[in-house]
Amino acid sequence: MARAERALTLSVRDLAVRFGGVAALAGVSFDVHPGTITSVIGPNGAGKTTAFNAITGYLRPTRGRIEYVGVPLTGLRPSAIAARGIVRTFQRTSVFPSLSVTDNVMIGLHLRGSAGVLDVLLGWRRRAAEESRLAHDADGILEFVGLGHRRGEVASELPYGEQRLVELAVALAARPRLLLLDEPGAGMTTAEKAAVSSLIRRIRDQSTTVLLVEHDMRMVMSISDTVIVMNHGRVIAEGAPAAIQAHPDVIRAYLGSAGDHD
Ligand SMILES: Nc1ncnc2c1ncn2[C@@H]1O[C@H](COP(=O)(O)OP(=O)(O)O)[C@@H](O)[C@H]1O
Ligand SMILES: [Mg+2]
Repeated sequence: MARAERALTLSVRDLAVRFGGVAALAGVSFDVHPGTITSVIGPNGAGKTTAFNAITGYLRPTRGRIEYVGVPLTGLRPSAIAARGIVRTFQRTSVFPSLSVTDNVMIGLHLRGSAGVLDVLLGWRRRAAEESRLAHDADGILEFVGLGHRRGEVASELPYGEQRLVELAVALAARPRLLLLDEPGAGMTTAEKAAVSSLIRRIRDQSTTVLLVEHDMRMVMSISDTVIVMNHGRVIAEGAPAAIQAHPDVIRAYLGSAGDHD
């Protein structure tokens, strides 16, 4: 189907967020087209994480409109937004450290349409049949992200890069239709970044739309369909990777803040 015939996955219009005197977002607009990998880049403090927080309901914008497949999200709580298939990971890893890799993913599977973490932890041993089905699903997800060999290990004992993959597996367990990844490559080795790049492509190819914040330019430029550049709470450029790399405002934003971004 031609792009124009399909609803936008995400439409962000004139989004503003203030923290006291700081305009973290000063009127941000961008679109995310279905089936794409769209990346948001920009120097530290540009407002990338704030935009993610507003889209996923973790903070309420002072102004603006966010629509998911044509339906307004503004004002919905994070759980209501997640229930629509918009799932995120955080800039810092957020796995349950003392649980096994499989149990982390099982919690993700249980949380899909279920009550809370406590219910999950207390109730899950009673439903053996359902458990074995979920364990099978968890195995499939762990194979998909390349952690099949880590199933029974305690999450906190994995290398950092693999802990981030556990977090991604938990996010996938929620069956996202729009997946927001905040710096998935942070703290990863070059080899891990290559693996996570290929994983993000495979996620997109399974028809999950991906919105990515990432500092690693090699990763961004190699996997993105569209790149959105932010600086000082505004979008300063948007386009295909090649066009963005040649864009004078983008070069200036990065050179002007040399060493400011990690
Ligand atoms: N909870 C907060 N309270 C106050 N200021 C914040 C808060 N979160 C972010 N900011 C400020 O908003 C701006 C954008 O931050 P952020 O969205 O984290 O940027 P990025 O993810 O692009 O590095 C920065 O100036 C930051 O200091
Ligand atoms: Mg950030």
